[in-house]
Amino acid sequence: MSAGDTTLRVRPAGPQDAPGIVAVHQSGVSQWFRYRSDGTRIPARLEDLGPADRYRNGGPFMAIECALPHLRRLLSSGQLAFVAETDTEEIVGELELYIGRESDWGRTAHIDMLEVHPHYRRRGAGKALVAAAMDLGKERRTDRLSTNAEKTAIRFYQRCGLEETLARVRGGSVATDAVPPGRENTVAPGKIETYRPLEHRRMILGRLQSSFAEWIKRREPIPGITDQLKSEEGWVEELDAYYRIEESVLEPGVAWLQSWTSVPGRVREILLALINRARELGFVRVRTVVDRNALQALAGLPIVWGEEYIFLGRRLR
Ligand SMILES: CC(C)(COP(=O)(O)OP(=O)(O)OC[C@H]1O[C@@H](n2cnc3c(N)ncnc32)[C@H](O)[C@@H]1OP(=O)(O)O)[C@@H](O)C(=O)NCCC(=O)NCCS
Repeated sequence: MSAGDTTLRVRPAGPQDAPGIVAVHQSGVSQWFRYRSDGTRIPARLEDLGPADRYRNGGPFMAIECALPHLRRLLSSGQLAFVAETDTEEIVGELELYIGRESDWGRTAHIDMLEVHPHYRRRGAGKALVAAAMDLGKERRTDRLSTNAEKTAIRFYQRCGLEETLARVRGGSVATDAVPPGRENTVAPGKIETYRPLEHRRMILGRLQSSFAEWIKRREPIPGITDQLKSEEGWVEELDAYYRIEESVLEPGVAWLQSWTSVPGRVREILLALINRARELGFVRVRTVVDRNALQALAGLPIVWGEEYIFLGRRLR
């Protein structure tokens, strides 16, 4: 592909590419912030922020100290990253791809992260990265390519052929003491070591990326950052729901909820059980996302609803 006077090419990424990838992701941030312990933030300069503060501005690729363990973990678990680079080997774009089974979309190649350096946008780099993801998805015999598309990137993904709307999910949050403790459900804390028990269950809470990506990304927390967060995993046995409750990286005292179940129709009871559990663990508020089709089942709960996200996809076979 040609970008002005330079030619761009796409290739699989390795750990040695971490500094170049960090530079691309940092270039996309127009204002950096320092997050305070009360959850508020103040403008800051990149050079004044340590790795944890940088991470809070947009995830592992905001700091080399986090990017390297993140990339190693991604590649060693069989997932992939691609970079777009110039003919002078400057990295100008990156895409991360997770390959796993979704209970509703089949075997899926999921684009979890895509960024092109602002100076190199609208020159075909993004489309070439998505084309590489598509080729790999076909090679690995996946049923679909999918992504959670930012509102500003919907047209771009449609231009890349992701024209199927797979799901719409809505963010919501609720104070744990706004929900009265209900009938007790038996919560059995404990880790599940493989994705196998979850791949045929529906991820009904907290699916911001593919269910598989959400699962695998939390297997090995980033040292010094996400491993410091309070979390619990386990089963709500009566509701056949596996859950994960994890302290927010931005808001201490606030928990992010995730759940997978074989009985998605019981989303209300599952959410109430997890709010109760989060309160027992000391969290004052919980956040999650829920499929738009499930909102009716949650009517009447004191949830503050927020942004909607759209999953786009394309059949690969
Ligand atoms: C979205 C993004 C990856 C696109 O990368 P890019 O290299 O600029 O895109 P391309 O040049 O390959 O564009 C491919 C097609 O999409 C179109 N397109 C690209 N960005 C677009 C936009 N913002 N709005 C409408 N169309 C767009 C192009 O015109 C092109 O159309 P064509 O096939 O008819 O020529 C890039 O803008 C970016 O990094 N944005 C910030 C991060 C982001 O939003 N990532 C996606 C997260 S879900």
